[in-house]
Amino acid sequence: MIEVRNLTRVFRTYKKRPGFLGGLYGLFKRDFEEIAAAKEVSFDIAEGEFVGFLGPNGAGKTTTLKMLAGLIYPTGGSARVAGFDPTRRENAYRRIFALVLGQKNQLWWDLPAQESFLLLRHIYNLPAADYKATLDELVELLGVGPKLNVMVRELSLGERMKMELIAALLHRPRVLFLDEPTIGLDVVSQKAVRQFLRDYNRRHRVTILLTSHYMAD
Ligand SMILES: Nc1ncnc2c1ncn2[C@@H]1O[C@H](COP(=O)(O)OP(=O)(O)OP(=O)(O)O)[C@@H](O)[C@H]1O
Ligand SMILES: [Mg+2]
Repeated sequence: MIEVRNLTRVFRTYKKRPGFLGGLYGLFKRDFEEIAAAKEVSFDIAEGEFVGFLGPNGAGKTTTLKMLAGLIYPTGGSARVAGFDPTRRENAYRRIFALVLGQKNQLWWDLPAQESFLLLRHIYNLPAADYKATLDELVELLGVGPKLNVMVRELSLGERMKMELIAALLHRPRVLFLDEPTIGLDVVSQKAVRQFLRDYNRRHRVTILLTSHYMAD
């Protein structure tokens, strides 16, 4: 399902010298530094597998997931997800994967989650019956029914993450990229999210690639 070969991303960053004179110097001569955020990453993941992606801060996990989602371009190597080349950003590919970034909000802050879900229904052009069945199943599994009409900014971190997961799964993706979906959650919520993902993976055979700093994940 996922084939990654020598995937590499080098960022070129400007190194500013300290202080005002350093800034002045930078106007005439720029010192660049090349940082390999991901260096020759290779792996294979079969359909339906649930894989944890571990590594210290700065190892390149988020960068790799962003390349697999087509958000940033690799500077070397290649990747295939379900036969698609993510760098081409084809609509057919966008319909079959989802990316959840635990450190970022993807839902509309000033709207109840339910409204963002409706927007997604239109973006993905989901038939009403499918949408309702999927939403009901996810809401039931995650136990967030009473919170659907609450502004996202008023939700707790754990409730918000559950809503983010629902938003990511509404279009029934076959591949799920999760970047620290349990970050900052209390042990009970971490367990709930973990259990949900495990059940969902078994039930629907989605392929999941998850990063986390909690070994229990
Ligand atoms: N846009 C960017 N420009 C320059 N350097 C970057 C950029 N994005 C990431 N990096 C660098 O690439 C390296 C890998 O970053 P990345 O976010 O992929 O790590 P990570 O494994 O997800 O770490 P963490 O566990 O802290 O989330 C880091 O050294 C980071 O500073
Ligand atoms: Mg990261």
